[in-house]
Amino acid sequence: MVSSRRLKVALVGCGDISGRHIGAFGRYSHAATIAVCCDTSIERAQHAAAEVAKNGDAPRVTQSYQDVLSDPEIDAVDLCLPHHLHAPAAIQAAQAGKHVLCEKPLALNVEECDAMIAAAEQAGVVLCHGEPMRCAGVVMRAAAMIAEGAIGRIMGLQATFAYWQRPELNTGWRGNRHESGGGHLMDGGIHIIDVLRQLGGEIVAVQAMLAHYRPELGADSEDLALLNLRYAEGHCGQLFACHATKSRAASPLVSVFGDAGSLSVEAFGPGNGLVLFKPGEAPQIQEPDHAWVDGYERLIGSFIEAATGSGPLLATPQDGRENVRVVLGAYRSAETGTEITLDTPSRPNQGDLSPSDVQE
Ligand SMILES: NC(=O)c1ccc[n+]([C@@H]2O[C@H](COP(=O)([O-])OP(=O)(O)OC[C@H]3O[C@@H](n4cnc5c(N)ncnc54)[C@H](O)[C@@H]3O)[C@@H](O)[C@H]2O)c1
Repeated sequence: MVSSRRLKVALVGCGDISGRHIGAFGRYSHAATIAVCCDTSIERAQHAAAEVAKNGDAPRVTQSYQDVLSDPEIDAVDLCLPHHLHAPAAIQAAQAGKHVLCEKPLALNVEECDAMIAAAEQAGVVLCHGEPMRCAGVVMRAAAMIAEGAIGRIMGLQATFAYWQRPELNTGWRGNRHESGGGHLMDGGIHIIDVLRQLGGEIVAVQAMLAHYRPELGADSEDLALLNLRYAEGHCGQLFACHATKSRAASPLVSVFGDAGSLSVEAFGPGNGLVLFKPGEAPQIQEPDHAWVDGYERLIGSFIEAATGSGPLLATPQDGRENVRVVLGAYRSAETGTEITLDTPSRPNQGDLSPSDVQE
């Protein structure tokens, strides 16, 4: 446990998303510092270090992950790596006694997720699932209002996540299914699966249709995923996830419909972050801004707190594991043309270490 000094973090993977992490860590400079920037590209590591320096710190740079792992000064790693490296890097870090923040998706499959969770538990370190959207103010507020009964019993959920993927993002590992684990659903849509689970509960069955429009993003990776979801409590939900549209920026629309009202995240665009609809009443704006970016700050704040023993994780690896299970169930459904029943979520930290895969 680290308590009397700042948590020393190694940023591992200094690519596209690392700037958001640097910005969020900068908000907690009293409690944590990025002490090392690690990337196989020295230019990227140096660029990240220069960004961190704007927060007043002076991280060293390295191209070697083993160098990070063997540094006794480093308390934690922040893994912003390609998807196929999440599990091996997280397991090695846990075995080296480092706390781990790992970007989404947690791993390529459920077995890898279980191995990561087991490694963290055995080492007694924190493993945080790097999913910022569940930590966004609008989503946390919506979850609290649903729990308080603001919309009554949930009857269904509907979500749209539609944007234009920058082609340069997919020139390397993202365009390779063996390294990315899938197409848009595994990369982008998985954020909203997490939100749909946070707001609606556990998902027990999935039906999916996929479409492929943009070969430049990957020869065999879907660009559109349409999902019908069945929840444990009996209600159903839908997800439209596509990174081949130019209609709007990457800001999700999520509605939860109940028998006493409904809630919509970003119902009518900017200014309507979270809106409550009650029968016979004008729509009530609960939060004006959707502010998804605040999710990174809360996520990283909770990681620092958990690693220093002063607070709970807002995004657990068990949630990351369940999201991966739903995505893989959707891929199986699209392949077979059938509804896929997901096993009851088995939590490896609750005595069951056997990987539960999807089954028809
Ligand atoms: N880009 C986004 O908009 C975005 C948004 C949310 C989440 N994410 C997640 O963040 C993670 C990284 O995505 P990205 O878009 O930043 O990818 P990226 O390809 O831009 O960056 C990955 C970096 O990892 C480095 N790297 C590869 N192997 C390495 C190794 N062995 N040691 C050290 N560095 C290594 C690469 O050189 C590269 O700089 C993924 O899990 C992704 O799903 C990305």
